[in-house]
Amino acid sequence: MKKGYFITFEGAEGSGKSTQIRNAVAFLKKKGRSVVMLREPGGTRISEGVRAILLDKRLKEMTPVTELLLYLAARAQIVREKILPALRQGKVVICDRFEDSTRAYQGYGRGLSLEAIEQASKLVRGALRPDLTFILDIDIAQGLKRGGRHDRIEREALSFHRRVRNGFLAIAKKDPRRTMVLDSSQPVGQVSRKIRERLERVFGK
Ligand code: TMP
Repeated sequence: MKKGYFITFEGAEGSGKSTQIRNAVAFLKKKGRSVVMLREPGGTRISEGVRAILLDKRLKEMTPVTELLLYLAARAQIVREKILPALRQGKVVICDRFEDSTRAYQGYGRGLSLEAIEQASKLVRGALRPDLTFILDIDIAQGLKRGGRHDRIEREALSFHRRVRNGFLAIAKKDPRRTMVLDSSQPVGQVSRKIRERLERVFGK
């Protein structure tokens, strides 16, 4: 039985996720919540190993299906090893990326079937769904300038990153109750305030 609360942060490269996550964690901790902060792909020994393969810029031959299955493998591990146990203990879990990234990058970006991704995802996360997802939206060029283009995914063409960005926006449109899109070109403090206001609606003032 899940008792905690599961929050995910999503967005393109350089959208300022890390800063906003740090601020959200600090805010919830000040409210006396027990918070677990995780990242995807990663967060467990096995998932960090898979992450190293996924982001290795030398592995140019990786096929889209291989890539999809590796992201899902990393997720299968962190869901069971970290996320579900923390939620059972009533903790707030904040994850830097989750399955919306798979929909956006492997689905909209690589062009793999969204339906196939949904099917495989069910096996990976069972009934687990984020309760709330913040999507940080940023202009592609601005984001890549901020984030740099170091790993295998960041080095993809601009057209790929454009499809990913539009993918996130399409996901938000389909699921407006769970998601909140934030314009990340705004000052950091302003974005943080909007996130805080939303969190106050869930956790109280
Ligand atoms: P990060 O740099 O934000 O930690 O994320 C690692 C990269 O992996 C980032 O470029 C997005 C990508 N990614 C996917 O392509 N699919 C996924 O399912 C996840 C979680 C991340």
